[in-house]
Amino acid sequence: MSSSPSTSDEEERNGGKAHFALRDLDLEVRRGSLVAVVGRVGSGKSTLLSSILGEVSRTSGRASVAAGISVGYAPQQAWIRNLTLRDNVLFGKAFSEERYTSVLSACSLKSDLEMLVAGDRTEIGENGINLSGGQKQRVSLARAVYSEADLYLLDDPLSAVDAHVGAHIFHHVIGSARDKAETGTDSAQGLAAR
Ligand SMILES: Nc1ncnc2c1ncn2[C@@H]1O[C@H](COP(=O)(O)OP(=O)(O)OP(=O)(O)O)[C@@H](O)[C@H]1O
Ligand SMILES: [Mg+2]
Repeated sequence: MSSSPSTSDEEERNGGKAHFALRDLDLEVRRGSLVAVVGRVGSGKSTLLSSILGEVSRTSGRASVAAGISVGYAPQQAWIRNLTLRDNVLFGKAFSEERYTSVLSACSLKSDLEMLVAGDRTEIGENGINLSGGQKQRVSLARAVYSEADLYLLDDPLSAVDAHVGAHIFHHVIGSARDKAETGTDSAQGLAAR
């Protein structure tokens, strides 16, 4: 993949302003695989994930996600709604205690819950308790993981967490997807941008 400001003819069409575009990209993510996208700042990693989500206009070539594939997305900029922590993770999905507990553990959120006055029933977001950047990122990641999607798009999911927490999440969330892929016990795909 390469990325660059657009060429001068495109510049002309846009009143002298260069557009950013993803170029020379040939990517196929197969079911059961884990793909890491690595590149320098501003090279287009987030744009690539946005394009998979259908949020970027395509000017040429082909791009598609297989029909019926559900997507779990943890954006680079984690966001939290004015809801309880639990509802921020469930996000409308049915509560499964086993799954919920294992997702909180994988996302290293259990010790945070112990510090919150009402545990996972604590209101978070603008009107509630203000979480740290790392906590927000882990709640946002937990939401994506809880959604049990076919394809997970994780945009720089470890950027705001400490090294040891990052190692835990890498092992239990990202690495776990890879292990499942290797043993073929799960059909999930992962795509992580860093
Ligand atoms: N909403 C937008 N509108 C216009 N240009 C954008 C928008 N978002 C990003 N860009 C531009 O697109 C280019 C790629 O940005 P992108 O966020 O995809 O890079 P990145 O590889 O994810 O960077 P980082 O490592 O900082 O996360 C940059 O030049 C950026 O300024
Ligand atoms: Mg980015």
